[in-house]
Amino acid sequence: MNEDQYPFLRACQRQKTEYTPIWLMRQAGRYMKEYRALRKKYSFLEMCKNPELAAKVTLQPIEKFSLDAAIIFSDILIPLEPMGVEFEFAKGEGPVFHHPVREMKEVERLRVFEPEEEIPFLMKAIQIVRKELEGKIPLIGFCGAPFTLASYIIEGGHSKNYILTKSMMYQDRPTWDTLMGKISEVLIRYLNAQIRAGVQALQIFDSWVGCLTPGDYGEYVLPYSKKVMDGVGKSVPLIHFATSNSTLLELMKRAGGDVIGVDWRVDIGEAWARLGYDVAIQGNLDPVILFGPVDLIEKEVKRILDRVEGRPGHIFNLGHGILPNTPPDHVAALIEAVHENSSK
Ligand code: CP3
Repeated sequence: MNEDQYPFLRACQRQKTEYTPIWLMRQAGRYMKEYRALRKKYSFLEMCKNPELAAKVTLQPIEKFSLDAAIIFSDILIPLEPMGVEFEFAKGEGPVFHHPVREMKEVERLRVFEPEEEIPFLMKAIQIVRKELEGKIPLIGFCGAPFTLASYIIEGGHSKNYILTKSMMYQDRPTWDTLMGKISEVLIRYLNAQIRAGVQALQIFDSWVGCLTPGDYGEYVLPYSKKVMDGVGKSVPLIHFATSNSTLLELMKRAGGDVIGVDWRVDIGEAWARLGYDVAIQGNLDPVILFGPVDLIEKEVKRILDRVEGRPGHIFNLGHGILPNTPPDHVAALIEAVHENSSK
């Protein structure tokens, strides 16, 4: 297939497609036995840092399901290590940063680096996957958004109330601005390097930004997310995703993105009407629906497709990453339901 005929890329540009394209956040992961088998032999970070393994894992869900896009296997935290912030995945705890960044002097020590030199494994993995997928489906690259990455390095891991992150924001503006500025500069280089390596679309994950008021998002975050997206140019479509983002939709659009990704807490039809139809939309099945019977999955697929009224520019996805323990045959049923019920 020619690049301008891929349904996923056409939908990103709000062009008509024969059916609604679908991919799933975290589509390579623990719900697949093929992934768990490899994970017995390698740690998660070992798999990210080995281009052949990362390519193999990227392709696992593609070989099994009729997905309309692949996403490169990596993690939003990968660019933090070369910045000088080390972390590990502690068992059952998620990422842990033993030396969180909270003071100006710590922010000043952070490095802005050249991705091709410091993260060559990712660029190599992208090249391998592109060769494998040529003419089949496109490849998505990604990064975490400045706020979400800042929250990890300030809190030292995942957070419930973001007290340290918000305290820096509210009480130490110079440190906040310096940190967000540095992260943004790193991300611009990181995303452009992924484009040079061959990704055909990009997604920016602002997973935790829904903890902010719209006012604070506009004041402390939007300028940096905008800077990153402006810094990437127009050569590939950009998906701007967040969770708990129903109050932030208009502001997220202002920050940038050809596609706005929404979670399941908002009605996708209302979200699109609010955003305006000059931007594409991605979403928004509750990942927990996949634990239900196939007729429930079909019902929810039809509901979402009804809400977007067949308008060009809808990319079907979950509202957040697929959960471990999701039955793989339900994933196949979901993809089939989306393709069948949307075919024109
Ligand atoms: O979508 C994909 O398939 C591409 C790969 C991908 C991963 N993480 C693989 C992964 C992507 C796009 C991410 C993004 C990511 N990573 C986000 C943003 C998306 C979101 O879910 O909100 C965040 C916040 C992270 C940080 C992260 N990585 C956490 C908090 C964890 C641990 C929590 C958990 O689920 O265990 C990870 C680990 C991780 N990233 C795994 C995978 C497949 C599980 C690793 C394992 O095998 O143990």
